[in-house]
Amino acid sequence: MIFANQLIYWYLNNKRDLPWRKTKDPYLVWLSEIMLQQTRVAQGLPYFIKFTEAYKTVFDLAKSDESLVLKLWQGLGYYSRARNLHFTAKYVADELNGVFPNNYKELLKLKGIGDYTASAIASVCFDEPVAVVDGNVYRVLSRYFGINTPINSSKGIKEFKELAQTLIDSSQPGTYNQAIMDFGALHCKPQNPLCDTCPFSSSCVALEKKLIKELPVKEKK
Ligand code: ADE
Repeated sequence: MIFANQLIYWYLNNKRDLPWRKTKDPYLVWLSEIMLQQTRVAQGLPYFIKFTEAYKTVFDLAKSDESLVLKLWQGLGYYSRARNLHFTAKYVADELNGVFPNNYKELLKLKGIGDYTASAIASVCFDEPVAVVDGNVYRVLSRYFGINTPINSSKGIKEFKELAQTLIDSSQPGTYNQAIMDFGALHCKPQNPLCDTCPFSSSCVALEKKLIKELPVKEKK
């Protein structure tokens, strides 16, 4: 079976039931993806619930005082995320009539939205086949394909993005992207990955060569 199909099959049987997976509203998907950067799902989830109760739409967030946004963000860390979030909410509300851009290229122009977030929103909300690459994706791909290029080098960033792009299922890119992230978070974990019950055990290069513990490679800076 091809990689994407096997991954999606695993996902359909193992995925986490999360509130931002019940919607294609770009406001909610954007909010969740900003919150989950450098943050575990278990830590981000209560904040997502709190924010969506306080701010049901991008207009509600836009007209809030920044001090209140920062107060609600307290404990999540990386406060520039909250400041950019508020800035972009005001921009979308005031300049775009509350409508988020509907493609990767335009999403990327918004403050606080980089390659990862633009790919996540474009694939989940608009079915655009752009691959996300986060820490989970680096781990899964480096192990499965046995790639030892440092993931924090410019060569590695380019190589993994290109590889990820060749693997994506264009007919369901949002599902594929969330599948590979969940697979990395729940199965192909940093420590003690579940290789014994892994659906990829017969084709994983790192498992065959006993390199699971060595991959991914991060270069000291
Ligand atoms: N981490 C960040 N965003 C995620 C998503 N949509 N699914 C799984 N893990 C994630």
